[in-house]
Amino acid sequence: MDIRMIEFRLLSDGRGGLIAIEQLKDIPFEIKRVYYIFDVTEGVERGFHAHKKLQQVMFCPHGSCKIRLDDGAEKTEVLLDSPDKGLLVKSNIWREMFDFSPGTVLMVLASDYYDESDYIRDYAEFLRSLKDINLEEM
Ligand code: TYD
Repeated sequence: MDIRMIEFRLLSDGRGGLIAIEQLKDIPFEIKRVYYIFDVTEGVERGFHAHKKLQQVMFCPHGSCKIRLDDGAEKTEVLLDSPDKGLLVKSNIWREMFDFSPGTVLMVLASDYYDESDYIRDYAEFLRSLKDINLEEM
């Protein structure tokens, strides 16, 4: 599956924690957008979409959550429970975010501006789109 963990360098010292994230150094793309999810209602699951082109790096600067990932062939789960633990998610991967602990902030760095036409929000359509991609590649 086209995902990878990225471990951010800790610059922490006796005064506290510090992490710096630089595009094209720590993140393998130019960061065009940053958004964060917070105050998540208990028990809520979010996401339930894939992106046609967008790449993202997700991490929890505070708290923890889990990400369910599915590329049509394989399913996996990743726990984001540390500010130095990033998850790179490339395009055409279905994602669901869940198990948010109280107070969690989920930060997302994205390779492009918001564009609803890049979203696939229907799971059956996602599976169909993968078949189309595979046919194109044959
Ligand atoms: P949504 O995709 O439902 O969030 P999640 O993936 O966490 O479930 O996004 C909620 C709303 O916010 C939806 O109407 C799209 C809008 N939105 C933007 O306008 N810009 C953005 O960068 C993002 C991520 C969402």
